[in-house]
Amino acid sequence: MSYFGQVGLGFRRDMLDELNEHVPEQIDFFEIAPENWMKLGGKFAKQLAYHAERKPFVCHGLSLSIGSYDPLDLTFLADLKVFLKKYNIRLYSEHLSYCSADGHMYDLMPIPFTEEAVKHTAARIRQVQDILEQHIVMENVSYYCAPGQALSELDFTLAVLEESDCKLLLDVNNIYVNSINHQYDAREFLKALPTERIAYGHIAGHYNEAHDLIIDTHGSDVADPVWDLLHEAYAHHGVFPTLLERDFNIPPMSELVTELKSISTLQALRGKSMVESN
Ligand SMILES: [Fe+2]
Repeated sequence: MSYFGQVGLGFRRDMLDELNEHVPEQIDFFEIAPENWMKLGGKFAKQLAYHAERKPFVCHGLSLSIGSYDPLDLTFLADLKVFLKKYNIRLYSEHLSYCSADGHMYDLMPIPFTEEAVKHTAARIRQVQDILEQHIVMENVSYYCAPGQALSELDFTLAVLEESDCKLLLDVNNIYVNSINHQYDAREFLKALPTERIAYGHIAGHYNEAHDLIIDTHGSDVADPVWDLLHEAYAHHGVFPTLLERDFNIPPMSELVTELKSISTLQALRGKSMVESN
């Protein structure tokens, strides 16, 4: 998987005017949701092409629904393959969840942590990888209930990664959120993940609803325990490209840049990059 930079930010249409004027030097790469851009032509397609010629892009999908029993959307995957090539997009990541069952639900639902779901999900990931002719990247997601749970979240995640031979998008905030909501040790979970499969990471803010309930909102600054966990992640796995997710209550770019600098500072503290050494 080719190197695409160390610090990233989501590429959003509501930030375009600002980014067209100036891209902060702290942004090494951008991430976009392909569903929001694939069908666009005209000025948006031109502006995407302009930025994609100047910065590496990665795709983070919303609609693949990898854990669902609905058939994979082969038309979407064919269009996605063209889109990735057209804009020289380095990788395609998705959520280890599902969002459809006889139609789209527009929400990320937890896949049951069972052996059967491991086999089903891994087979679909392999199918997508065969179609796209590249490894895809699956993200550990936040979840609030675990229906029919037979395996731990960790064992389920490890089994899917292994059986599908896909890469991992390590979302540090999601590990923290789940560790509070489902009462496990975030550091133990983090350390058990396979270093060699990490393609990149996410970090984001959350909302503390109660002492034992955190909601993964992407609507506030990154919280101190999540920065601590990112520091721990670099210490254990080496530095990996890390993207700041911010989808709501979006502050001025200068405030986002402050958080991007915090990612860089932690990476510099750790030193040598896992990706650069590959
Ligand atoms: Fe994420």
